[in-house]
Amino acid sequence: MQYIVRPMTQEDVPQVTAIDREAFPTMWPPMNYQRELENHLAHYIVVAEESDKTSEPPTTKIEANTGLAHKVVEWLTPHKAGPEPPQKIVGFAGFWMMAGEAHIISLAVKKEFRRRGFGKLLLVELVRAAVKIEAEIVTLEVRVSNYEAQRLYLQYGFIGKGVRRAYYTDNREDALIMTLDDADSSQCVAKFEEWRNSLKFGL
Ligand SMILES: CC(C)(COP(=O)(O)OP(=O)(O)OC[C@H]1O[C@@H](n2cnc3c(N)ncnc32)[C@H](O)[C@@H]1OP(=O)(O)O)[C@@H](O)C(=O)NCCC(=O)NCCS
Repeated sequence: MQYIVRPMTQEDVPQVTAIDREAFPTMWPPMNYQRELENHLAHYIVVAEESDKTSEPPTTKIEANTGLAHKVVEWLTPHKAGPEPPQKIVGFAGFWMMAGEAHIISLAVKKEFRRRGFGKLLLVELVRAAVKIEAEIVTLEVRVSNYEAQRLYLQYGFIGKGVRRAYYTDNREDALIMTLDDADSSQCVAKFEEWRNSLKFGL
């Protein structure tokens, strides 16, 4: 199976909404991704399974046997005639860009695809995309109890910068603010290139 990272489209919204509900079941109201795609501050990407007849130019192509944890190459079934079914979405992420600051709004991987490196892929590609449009800082809030996500962010240079008390409306849990400073520095850009290549997500 091959995977691509590409911008989110309206066609992806039902699957993205389902992943969002699975990942953030207590968040209310749910995020309206249809509206998000019309928000000029917002930038969203998805990881999708790539069919062999996709018409979208991939930004990143991943061979499952070279990068991600599953080492088996499952070659795609031969292409059938007729309209393409929607690509299966594995995960998504997005940020809002404001005054040199990219604020990560969400990042989620479908449960059945977790722990295979897709979270890393989404984060690395999101930071690269943010820097490309001149983000100097990348920041986010994460639940203080969400150690899995915090570990992911720490691995990629984010550091804890403070706490927003009772930030989450469902259970009044605190949010840890995590920030990647100097995201546009040549050192940081090089690091993310290196990480991207070490994940073997390059074409
Ligand atoms: C957080 C999330 C996106 C990670 O996605 P993923 O595809 O499983 O992540 P990866 O396989 O790329 O793992 C990346 C790193 O995250 C951390 N991590 C992920 N799952 C973990 C777990 N269950 N336990 C401990 N660490 C974990 C590890 O540091 C891991 O690196 P390692 O494998 O080298 O140890 C996923 O768990 C998810 O969708 N969670 C629900 C939504 C959410 O909490 N989003 C973050 C909001 S701020």
